[in-house]
Amino acid sequence: MTTTTPSAIGQPLDRVDGRPKVTGGARYSAEIPMPDMAYAYVVGSRVAAGRVTGIDASAAQAEEGVLAVLTHQNLPKIAEQPPLVPSLGGTAAPAQTFFPMQDDTVHYAGQQIAIVIADTWERAQHAAQLLSVSYEETTPVTTLDQGRDQAYEPERIFGGWVPGRLERGDAEAGLADADIRVEGTFTYAANNHNPIEPSCTTAEWEGDELLLYDATQGVNATQMTVSRLLGIPMSKIRVIGHYVGGSFGSKAMIHAHSALAAMAASEVGRPVKLALTREQMFTSVGHREEQEQQLAIGATSEGRLTAIRHHKLSPTSHFDDWAEPSIGISSQIYACPNYEGVYRLFRANTMTPTFMRAPGEASGMFALECSMDELAHELGLDPIELRLRNHSDVDAMSGLPWSSSGLRECYERGAQRFGWQGRDPRPGTRREGNWLIGTGMATAAYPVPPLPNAQRARARLYADGTAVVQAATPDFGTGVATVMAQVAADGLGMRVDRCRFEDGDTDLPNINAAVGSAGAGMISAAVHSAATALRQQLIQRAVGDSGSPLHGTDPVDVVVQDGVMTAGTSSDPYTDLMQRNFLSDAEASGQWSPPPPDVPYGMMTFGAQFAEVGVDAELGLVRVRRMTGAFAPGRVLNDKTARSQLMGGMLWGLGQALLEANYMSPDTGRWVNSNLGEYLVPVNADAPDVDIELIEIEDGIVNPLGVKGVGEIGQVGAAAAIANAVHHATGRRIRKLPITIEDML
Ligand code: MOS
Repeated sequence: MTTTTPSAIGQPLDRVDGRPKVTGGARYSAEIPMPDMAYAYVVGSRVAAGRVTGIDASAAQAEEGVLAVLTHQNLPKIAEQPPLVPSLGGTAAPAQTFFPMQDDTVHYAGQQIAIVIADTWERAQHAAQLLSVSYEETTPVTTLDQGRDQAYEPERIFGGWVPGRLERGDAEAGLADADIRVEGTFTYAANNHNPIEPSCTTAEWEGDELLLYDATQGVNATQMTVSRLLGIPMSKIRVIGHYVGGSFGSKAMIHAHSALAAMAASEVGRPVKLALTREQMFTSVGHREEQEQQLAIGATSEGRLTAIRHHKLSPTSHFDDWAEPSIGISSQIYACPNYEGVYRLFRANTMTPTFMRAPGEASGMFALECSMDELAHELGLDPIELRLRNHSDVDAMSGLPWSSSGLRECYERGAQRFGWQGRDPRPGTRREGNWLIGTGMATAAYPVPPLPNAQRARARLYADGTAVVQAATPDFGTGVATVMAQVAADGLGMRVDRCRFEDGDTDLPNINAAVGSAGAGMISAAVHSAATALRQQLIQRAVGDSGSPLHGTDPVDVVVQDGVMTAGTSSDPYTDLMQRNFLSDAEASGQWSPPPPDVPYGMMTFGAQFAEVGVDAELGLVRVRRMTGAFAPGRVLNDKTARSQLMGGMLWGLGQALLEANYMSPDTGRWVNSNLGEYLVPVNADAPDVDIELIEIEDGIVNPLGVKGVGEIGQVGAAAAIANAVHHATGRRIRKLPITIEDML
């Protein structure tokens, strides 16, 4: 059957939720009014290690309006640790292995040790100040320098998904045989997520049924996690999260506050809103860990790689072997016979770090692509030429062919748009007044992640000729509500303004949490399948309907456009069919099963990043003057929202390169930059022109529409392109993130 032309897919449509979001009409989890609402304020541990020896809550409890104080002494015990992916068996989800207030141990500063519940937020906050907490303190270990002596090699990391060691060939021999080697140690400050909306859960019990409004990347994930933690059936829990104000991985895992809100509501017998403060966001939802990566590359004098060795050292919590998988990407994207990747961890007084935009790839590619730039410089080769000489048509680790690539086109078109051609490779040769000018580039790559479950959606057509498609996913700022209306319009053969996407509710068809840039691919697959099934159902009905002008037509000859089914000169609008048959609505579901784990392809999204910087020779200021990114993300569902995702990622890369940093105070084990005054992110004044090229390469393997996703790849390689540009401007090779003024003096 033919789909409509032109398809709604790809059109640069404005966000359907843009107006409610900017006019305050959109209700976020903290904005759901409920009668008799109570407010929970969470108290975090002042110390980073030791034990709570006493909590005197009498003064707090005596305050007007205070309803309850929960501590390890009276908070109910959790029933069970939730698994990361139930269908994969028992692996506990990283950061969900620890639940606070189960005993008196303090593992990290900010660990939740009490909750004060009152009839207003202000009273809860005030009463929390009146708690008198005593501790037995021990010496915390939080920084790389404090922990490196105790490092061990974990068997697996990342919730058990990634092996602790990756090898092929003989890296030592490959390095020894090389004509040329570059080697460097790269250090990274810790990063924290700062979505505009801090995490919040509002909980209400009705008998034994629980309703949660949750800021989450997956309402089903919240439902499953809270069900396991509290030991109540999933069928008793409904989770709603229509609007989510950004996440970037901070709302991927279901952190303790969601279940704590439900426990607090149960304790006081009223609906409870539990909102984290901005400061608590730095200690309650994970972070990107401080890390050190050592990268060595060997190559022949013609610039063919002989070996890559990539080691990483980072702190993890006392309960999980977590490292963001920074090493995998360096094993995959270049042709190179010998490889060794090793993770080393040490136990620290921290909560488990977690997913943060391009978790692993953003940091790993910085080390790899700065090293490649150095190698190109040493060899006197153009950086793009070096990458082309080591281009791989297969996943270099598995040996499997890419389902699709587009990387060569990204280099070519990116270089063209940026004006890379004719670049003088000598560092420090371009100057404008006080500014030293340099350009740099890097490869971008981000895996298309495997998904464990079938994804489902539902499509319904009403008699008035409008349609609604439904799936449980929330829209946390990606534009999914807009894009899925486009996908539905394509599947149904309707105008996009007649289609609406309904989301963010566990009463709707189950969909995976939107993580790993998988959202657009998996949701569009399910939605398109549901919409196509409904269109086929309606065509079948028309050709079998003696009252239809299409009666007796072969269904394959029927095309649908603007909601009108047509074959030759006969046509029958959906609305006529519905009217004739007294149908108030028609409905179909769709399901998509992702490629199995043993699919014989490597699945990767590729891109190329280019940056131009100016460095003030006297002040050490680094300013990014322009950025170009060329990406091959498969099929683009909405040109505007895709570009805005990629632009956001590239500017995040700028933040990673020059601004974003948090540090543990080695004495107290506490973060020093727990606010947006000191934790710096790029603002408009930092943001240069960002130029984006989208290269659409067909891919029939990843999912039916060939969508690879754009959520994270925009960031990957951006920081390396900037650091390489800094080298080109100044001749200084900075192997540290962020690059600050002090580094340039
Ligand atoms: Mo994303 S950092 O996989 O939530």
